[in-house]
Amino acid sequence: MPQAFPPNSNAFAKWLLIGGGVFFVLLITVMAFFARTSNNAVGVPVSQPVTFQHNLHAGQLGLDCRYCHTSVEVEASANIPPTETCMTCHSQIRVGDPALAAVQASWDNGTPIEWNRVHDLADYVYFNHSAHVNSGVGCSTCHGAVDEMGGMWKNESLTMGWCLECHRAPEEYLRPRSEVFNQDYVAPANQTELGLALVEAYHVNTEKLPQCSTCHR
Ligand code: HEC
Ligand code: HEC
Ligand code: HEC
Ligand code: HEC
Ligand code: HEC
Repeated sequence: MPQAFPPNSNAFAKWLLIGGGVFFVLLITVMAFFARTSNNAVGVPVSQPVTFQHNLHAGQLGLDCRYCHTSVEVEASANIPPTETCMTCHSQIRVGDPALAAVQASWDNGTPIEWNRVHDLADYVYFNHSAHVNSGVGCSTCHGAVDEMGGMWKNESLTMGWCLECHRAPEEYLRPRSEVFNQDYVAPANQTELGLALVEAYHVNTEKLPQCSTCHR
């Protein structure tokens, strides 16, 4: 039988397959490694240079999330407020209080407060706040009862499985846009019906949502 390929091509194809397999396993391992090391534990408050309390500011005082997280509706990232935002009140309220010493020092020196990140997805995952907020996903769906939190913690695992639970069936989670910042919102009994109407109204692309390239680009 005439040979279509040189005699050692079988060995070459074999090594190519093994090489590809090894590369794939390495890739998964490296991704999994970074996935593990970049995350805080669920439900454990992260220590901060200032004991800022959401339950006091967003809960008791009733400040809207957007008072401080001003970019959350328009940008991929929700910003952490600059010291200036704190000083609109704290240049008059509890001036000289030790609990606010680091805020005062930051203001005096012009150096930003170095907040520790609570949520931090691996770099190979793309996330966008404005896309979610404008499609009717509430802050509390992902971050929990922030207005009752003293310290800040991760309320959800933020694993791929968790993201996909919603990306495969967004109608089970969507609320009217007007309720996105409402921390007390409770889903109605006819959630699926409401959700399907909102998927339509907000032009949510249910075909694109579960695809790998939506989050890994
Ligand atoms: C008075 C300003 C202020 C208001 C109002 C406010 N926050 Fe914050 N938020 C902060 C500051 C400062 C931090 C950083 C310190 C921390 O993580 O505790 C923060 C951190 C966060 C984080 C964690 C960020 C990270 O590192 O991953 C989330 C989530 C969050 N806020 C959600 C909310 C939600 C939801 C609301 C509305 C219910 C809200 N915040 C209202 C000032 C504010
Ligand atoms: C809208 C006004 C307002 C803004 C803006 C504001 N605070 Fe406050 N903050 C208050 C009030 C009111 C209190 C409670 C005062 C009291 O009970 O004596 C307070 C209390 C505090 C305390 C003391 C908590 C305690 O009892 O130990 C800290 C720390 C604090 N704020 C940090 C911050 C930081 C950091 C920012 C900016 C991210 C900020 N605040 C923005 C009004 C504000
Ligand atoms: C679909 C889930 C989801 C919703 C809805 C959501 N967040 Fe987030 N939030 C996240 C994830 C995931 C991160 C981490 C992003 C990263 O590491 O790139 C995050 C991070 C943050 C941060 C830290 C800064 C940043 O962008 O990394 C703040 C502040 C925050 N969210 C506030 C809010 C507020 C306020 C709302 C409501 C208006 C909100 N989030 C709605 C999932 C969500
Ligand atoms: C509770 C529901 C829900 C959860 C949880 C959720 N998403 Fe989404 N996501 C949506 C909806 C709804 C959209 C809007 C789709 C559209 O507009 O077509 C969206 C859109 C996106 C987009 C597209 C943004 C763009 O600019 O096109 C990305 C990326 C994304 N989500 C990543 C994530 C990641 C990563 C997580 C987990 C950390 C996550 N999402 C968790 C509901 C969710
Ligand atoms: C809705 C967003 C989203 C979609 C869609 C998505 N992923 Fe992911 N993926 C994530 C998040 C979030 C992580 C975990 C990141 C972290 O832990 O910080 C992740 C992690 C991974 C990892 C690392 C290993 C692990 O499990 O932690 C691999 C590999 C991966 N994704 C492959 C895929 C493939 C293949 C698809 C398509 C079938 C896909 N992803 C679709 C969000 C998504």
